[in-house]
Amino acid sequence: MDTEALIRQARTILDTNWNGQFTKPAPSLYPHQWNWDAGFIALGNAYHSMTRAMDELRHLFRGQWQNGMLPQIVFGDDPQARYFPGPDFWQAHRSPHAPAGVATSGISMPPVHGFVLWEMYQIAEDKTVARAFLKEMYPKVLALHRYLYQHRDPEGEGLVYIRHPWEGGTDNSPIWDAALARIDIAQLDIPPYERKDLQNPKAAEHRPTQQDYDRYVYLVDLFRQRDYDDERIYADCPFLIQDPLFNGVLSWSNEALIKIGSLIGEDIAEPMQWHELTIWSMNEKLWDEEWGIYNAYDLRAQEIIPVETSSGFMPLCGEVPDQEQAEAMLRTLESAAFGGRPEETWLCPTYSLLAEDVNFQKYWRGPVWINLNWLLYRGLLRYDMEEMAERVKQHSLQLLDAHGFFEYFDPRRTAAGEGGCGTDTFSWSAALCLDFLLRESLA
Ligand code: SER
Repeated sequence: MDTEALIRQARTILDTNWNGQFTKPAPSLYPHQWNWDAGFIALGNAYHSMTRAMDELRHLFRGQWQNGMLPQIVFGDDPQARYFPGPDFWQAHRSPHAPAGVATSGISMPPVHGFVLWEMYQIAEDKTVARAFLKEMYPKVLALHRYLYQHRDPEGEGLVYIRHPWEGGTDNSPIWDAALARIDIAQLDIPPYERKDLQNPKAAEHRPTQQDYDRYVYLVDLFRQRDYDDERIYADCPFLIQDPLFNGVLSWSNEALIKIGSLIGEDIAEPMQWHELTIWSMNEKLWDEEWGIYNAYDLRAQEIIPVETSSGFMPLCGEVPDQEQAEAMLRTLESAAFGGRPEETWLCPTYSLLAEDVNFQKYWRGPVWINLNWLLYRGLLRYDMEEMAERVKQHSLQLLDAHGFFEYFDPRRTAAGEGGCGTDTFSWSAALCLDFLLRESLA
């Protein structure tokens, strides 16, 4: 593998997708700025353009709502951009909290920004500038976490719920199936809409189904009808889920806020409380002793969602499990469910390979995604699981090298020519490739 060439290609993709204000996740399919994409992209850019990395996050936080909510999409102003749902559909201005003069969606995404800031600080050569940036951003990220704990954790458990699959970031994950199935679309009024994501016929096959979209649209309509009022939505929304990926990432970012706060001389009592409670509750409520993995919890049905996805490994990155739990997770990762036989499977499939309805090329229902691999890699390193961490990293790099900077990949090694799925020139695949390759070079 020519790692120098990979680095060059990754940088070119990030340069090409930069529009002077933010980095598009992919030029045609995702022409605006996405929340967690921006975080991963900033991290990758930090290696060669700290200024652009900082501008990326500044642009994203311009869209932050006055109640702290950080939207999933901050819309750009390109009239050619084709994406559904756009600002007219979201109608975010119905909320008194939406920012003036910035068009955004009305839901959030996994809160990666705390740990991204901390990583950027580690990468920065000029620590004075980097520290000033931490000072600038800390209150904004703190406000986001405060929003999540105040408005998305009604029982004060320290577990934050998502109310839309797009908010989880893993749009059509099988985790959401049962909750979405309870939305009986035949009985409901779904506002008319036109998808814009099906233009590339190959990518279209990999995208979520029409039934999925009807439900996504139904939920957005429910939110806008309630003027994005959290309490009213909580009362009526059929989809309220505590997800181990979202809460695992939150945990890592809480930890980062504690480190950043200490460094810049802030009172860190609040993030410390959050951090402790979230870890405790994830272990109390979401840990599955039998499977050696974390589950999601459906707050509406009041039950655990017993579906084996790689989201259940993500609490490793926030150091949520103890060493013994982490070792059980490693055994699960090595099992046939997630491709223990390295000669057959690329790590890490997003859905158990043993599930009857696993689909190797369909978005979040089986394919390997570079961001989850990267989170898993970082998580494994925290437990000194060097060998598996290295395997996850090498598989990620080999996929990128063999197929290009696709959005996601078929986990079967036999899928040689067809392995790259979704859109190509995907920004976070490029950004995290840079971190995989350049992180070790830091002093
Ligand atoms: N991933 C979503 C989409 O496909 C939005 O967050 O459009």
